[in-house]
This record gives sequence, C-alpha cells and structure tokens, in this order.
Amino acid sequence: MTGNTFGRLFRVTTCGESYSGCFRKNPEIPKQLYGGLLTIVDGVPAGIRITAEDIQVELDKRKPGQSKLDSPRLEKDKVYIFSGVMENQMSTGAPIGIVIPNNDIEDIHVGQYHDYKDMARPGHAELTFMKRYGQYNDWVGAGRASGRETVSRVAGGAVAKLILDKYGIDVIAYTVESHGIKAAPVDYEMAKKNYRKNNINCPDLEAAEQMERDILAVRKTGETCGGVIEMIIRGLPAGLGEPVFDKLEATLAHAMMSIGAIKGIEFGAGFRVAEMVGSECNDEMYWDKETGRVKFYTNHAGGFLGGISNGDEVRIRMAVKPTPTVDVVQRTVDTDNGTDVNLSPITRRDASLLPRIYPVCEAMARITIVDAMMIFNGYRSMEDLDKKYDLM
Ligand SMILES: Cc1cc2nc3c(=O)[nH]c(=O)nc-3n(C[C@H](O)[C@H](O)[C@H](O)COP(=O)(O)O)c2cc1C
Repeated sequence: MTGNTFGRLFRVTTCGESYSGCFRKNPEIPKQLYGGLLTIVDGVPAGIRITAEDIQVELDKRKPGQSKLDSPRLEKDKVYIFSGVMENQMSTGAPIGIVIPNNDIEDIHVGQYHDYKDMARPGHAELTFMKRYGQYNDWVGAGRASGRETVSRVAGGAVAKLILDKYGIDVIAYTVESHGIKAAPVDYEMAKKNYRKNNINCPDLEAAEQMERDILAVRKTGETCGGVIEMIIRGLPAGLGEPVFDKLEATLAHAMMSIGAIKGIEFGAGFRVAEMVGSECNDEMYWDKETGRVKFYTNHAGGFLGGISNGDEVRIRMAVKPTPTVDVVQRTVDTDNGTDVNLSPITRRDASLLPRIYPVCEAMARITIVDAMMIFNGYRSMEDLDKKYDLM
C-alpha cells in the first residue's frame, strides 16, 4: 500500500487499521494496543508547545458515542506523545510520534466481521480492497478504509493547529445540511458563536433540532443519511499555493476528497457559477485604504484566484454520503464462491457521519495550509520582490 503520507514539507503519516490485526492473539502485547493507531508528523518546527491535551481536545470532537446520533463504539481515543517533544513540552524539531490505543476491541466484533469477510458491504470499500489486496486483505472493520483511520489525521491536524494559532489562521467546519434539511446562511461570527452547541454541530440552532430529530427517526428504520459540511478558513494570507499542479485550491480538494464518504466539494459559489454571467461571477476589487490591501466586494471565488489564496475568507462545502453500513437487507456477492447473496450487516455504525466528520475536515485543511506556508516561505526567502507586492 502506498500513499499513507500527506504533505510535502509538513508531512503527516498515518498507520493502523480498524482493529490492527497483528497484535491480536499475541499474549505479550498489552490488550490496549490491539487496535492502536499511529501518527508521525514530520517537519514540525522546533519551539512549538505541544501537549497531549492539545491533541486530545481535537480527538474528543471526533470520538464516537458522544450522543444518540453516533455509533455506539466506546473508543476513548486517549492520546500519548512518544517522540519529538521534551519535558518542557516544546517540540525539538524531531518527528512528533503520536500513539492512540483502542480500548474497544472485543472478540465478538471481530467475529461479526469474520462471518461476512467474503461479502462486500454495498457502499463500503471492501470490494475494491479485495481487488487490490486479494487474500491478504484486512477484513476486520474495513482495515485502512475504516473511519477509524481518521483518528490519526485528527492527531496530525491538532499539531498543525498549534502552528496556525501563532499566525492567527482559524479553520472552522460545521453542518449546513442534513438529509435535505438546510441551515440558514452561516457567517464566521455565527459559526464561532454556535460552534458545537448541539450534537450535529449546526450553527442554525433551530435547524439543528430538526436535523437531530430526523436522524433519530432515520436510525429507527435501520437506515443512515448524509448531508453537507461547510468550512471557513479565516486569516489565510494571499499568495499561498503553487501555480499549475499544486494550487492550494487543488491540494485542499485532494485533502478533503481523501476522507472516506466525502463525494463532492465546492469552493465559494461552487456549482452556482454555472448559472451566472461573467460580470456577476467575478469578484470586483477595491483598495482598502485602512489596511493598504486589495479587498473584494463579493466572494464567489471562495478565497482563490488561479488556485492561489487571494487573502479573502476561504469557503468550502463538502457533500457527505450516508454511512454505507445499514441495517437493511441489501444485495451483494459472496466472493468466495461467486454467488449472489443478501446481506444485512450487524456491525456498529453512525446513523449520520456529520457529527464526527467535521473535525477530520478541519484537520486535513490545517495540515494542507501549514505545508503550503512552509513551501511559500522557503521559496519567498530566496526572492527579491518589490515590497509593494507584500502589501497586496
Ligand atoms: C469519521 C468517519 C467515521 C466513519 N464511520 C463509519 C461507520 O461507522 N460505518 C461505515 O460503514 N462507514 C463509516 N465511515 C465511512 C467509510 O469509511 C467510507 O464510506 C468508506 O471508506 C468508503 O469510502 P467512500 O465512501 O469514500 O467510497 C466513516 C467515515 C468517517 C470519515
């Protein structure tokens, strides 16, 4: 398997599976490490204060079992930092190693997956993983395709957050639509004020109540449902991103689309641009005398021009599909003997991924931005541009 590292200078590597098979049945390994996940964050500057608590705060947003909307999995996701930080909690410049043991692995759950190991769940990644890894495929809980892998990303993103805090760059994601129920338009102030005020993290508190009631009704039928996550990035300086293949807009899309269950992404006006005429779509500019910087009257571009950040607020929306595991009989195949079968999975699941996916989006955005800043600053340090361009 390749592709387990994201970033070019600021690099986050994740490893570990849903239930990390290699430790099971080994009496020498403490049981807590069975389903453990690892994160290695390379490229962290020396002198950043990093504590396990800083990382825990982010992981606690993502952990299951926070409300009736979530999977009943009981993973505590407690964080341990094992390298790259001294007793004074300051980073040394060495890779930050983070381990997150899994406390919720019981033989009964492994047994459930074993019973269905040759039957791919419709909508999940088992079929393509079987195709790629054949008889060696990890069949427990979808292995690397499990949503559990995203724990490691959130840990890496928490380290990126500590770096971005120094620059006043804020990333915030929240629910704006669930199973067709839409929130009123959300601005940054409203998103901050009502962040995590309800189980679905929707800043429109009335819409949130409706969404939660609806998800519980959907859950009763054994079904699942999806929705839309919106993200705002505030304080991003203009000029980040490399033209052509490594546009920041493109690397952010890469980061978001690498998260399981995200099926669509749009920046700014997104698909609405298709209905506009040019002069309406273009964001007109003015010179802001107070700051001496270029500003925009509108933000249809969502914070990017030519894929490079334009100094405006970044706005991204992501379509999240319904959780694939449903408690409804569905048709699939038994790949062991080539027959059609009916499958009704009995494993644990989230009725909606919205309450738990937004911290993963925030984490991936933060990792992407720190990486882009490192590339920009490295390149810029060797250029000799007229100072007037710095101010733009
Ligand atoms: C935080 C998170 C939790 C998830 N939990 C579940 C789950 O409990 N059950 C499930 O079937 N899928 C879950 N998923 C979705 C699957 O991981 C995803 O649908 C699968 O890997 C297939 O990828 P695709 O949907 O992008 O095609 C979760 C995803 C995330 C990001």
